[in-house]
Amino acid sequence: MAAAAAHVLVFPFPLQGHINCMLPFATALAGAGVLVTFLHSDHNLRRLGRASAPDGPPSPRLRSLSIPDGLPDNDPRSVGGLLELVESLKAVASVAFRALLASLLSTTSPSRADHHHDGGFPPVTCVVADGYLPWAIDVADELCVPVLAFRTSSACSILAFLSAPRLFELGELPFPAGGDLDEPVRGVPGMESFLRRRDLPSSFRRAGEHGVNPRLPVLVEDTFHSGKARALIFNTAASLERSALAHIAPHMRDVFAVGPLHAMSPAPAVATSLWREDDGCVAWLDGQADRSVVYVSLGSLAVMSHGQFTEFLSGLVAAGHPFLWVLRPDMVGESRDGDATTPQDAIRAAAGDGKAHVVAWAPQWDVLRHRAVGCFLTHAGWNSTLEAVVEGVPMLCWPFFADQQINSRFVGAVWRNGLDMKDVCERGVVEKTVREAMESDEIRQSAEALAEQVKRDIADGGSSAMEFKRLVSFIRELGS
Ligand code: UDX
Repeated sequence: MAAAAAHVLVFPFPLQGHINCMLPFATALAGAGVLVTFLHSDHNLRRLGRASAPDGPPSPRLRSLSIPDGLPDNDPRSVGGLLELVESLKAVASVAFRALLASLLSTTSPSRADHHHDGGFPPVTCVVADGYLPWAIDVADELCVPVLAFRTSSACSILAFLSAPRLFELGELPFPAGGDLDEPVRGVPGMESFLRRRDLPSSFRRAGEHGVNPRLPVLVEDTFHSGKARALIFNTAASLERSALAHIAPHMRDVFAVGPLHAMSPAPAVATSLWREDDGCVAWLDGQADRSVVYVSLGSLAVMSHGQFTEFLSGLVAAGHPFLWVLRPDMVGESRDGDATTPQDAIRAAAGDGKAHVVAWAPQWDVLRHRAVGCFLTHAGWNSTLEAVVEGVPMLCWPFFADQQINSRFVGAVWRNGLDMKDVCERGVVEKTVREAMESDEIRQSAEALAEQVKRDIADGGSSAMEFKRLVSFIRELGS
């Protein structure tokens, strides 16, 4: 009997940052001959259809399906409503996921090997579920489908969550009321020499009556839950996070570090962007001198207050370099003093003609590899971090939440490919750090060396390329 074709159901948490790394993963799997069904939410699949066209040619081995996320279509699904989305997925999408997975397993043929159904795809042989969807691991388990977990955030952040019980044991958590966030933290292995309280993921900070953010135990439990999966996959490179990966391994059945994925596979054969990309910014960059522009983008979720926006704008203008700023329509809060000037108009007025360009959404991969970009003012989301690392672009980090606080510490203190200005939002600091990130030879050299190092990881024979091959064999064996 012929061996069953491997068919993987890839299920990301339905947000841009998760799609942007799991789609290149799906594309790479399809490129390696594996059949892939990529599972979106209905809402996102509709948005993708409106906002973006596939970057690459269609692949006969990669298709998209969708299930409801349980929220009304006009819900903003923004950072303020993240918990609502988490809960709604658990209540509604889990039921739809179970039904879909069951249907993708069914076959009427005694030989699963050569019976193709549903558009030529054989039954699913394995699920790769976002670790942020722990219930998806349980559903696959219950239906006896081998399941792997995938984390879209940094390995260092995942190690922090796995270390949380130890931090409580050591009395490091909860942080003392009014305590100094610059104090070092013990208990996260391999990071004791540089990790401060303020560098732990945002949910470690004090909140609520007992000083523990109610989300922290949930996030810790969800992280440990990935240990139930056959393996945990990271979008990272061994050379970036070797120590964190080694300390995570004992908690998991297997660990694969296969990133940065966006740089490993050809452009995804299906649409990736939930917002319409404004290519005009690349034409604008074409008219700028080499390494002269500050690219400002804070990802798909971050929202800033009007006061923070004003400090950033003033600092950027004072630094004197032209800048390209991504401002999603919902990104800046309203002014307290009733000033009705839009952020876009405020930028034009402050920067003067030609010095600044504003878009609602940029083709970020193209922007970061543009010769005119000199530094990246970023929230240090994991995708953005990896995208800057691969292009050797110096970073200036202003993290908002989740893994961003620890990612930015790695940028500033470990890889030294940029600066970390977390928890400070003052125009003078913005001006000074923008200048330094743009002008420091030391930072540029570290950024370039890091890019070379990571490119070796993803090249043929490099650690990520080898790990990806091992993962493909692992997946094929699960299906045989
Ligand atoms: C979040 C978390 O911050 C991140 O750490 C986690 O791993 C996934 O979820 P997000 O805040 O959106 O994601 O940041 P990031 O991980 O950087 O992802 C944003 C993605 O949107 C990047 O791939 C970036 O290239 C893309 N992007 C952003 C655009 O394509 N255009 C833009 O204008 C801005």
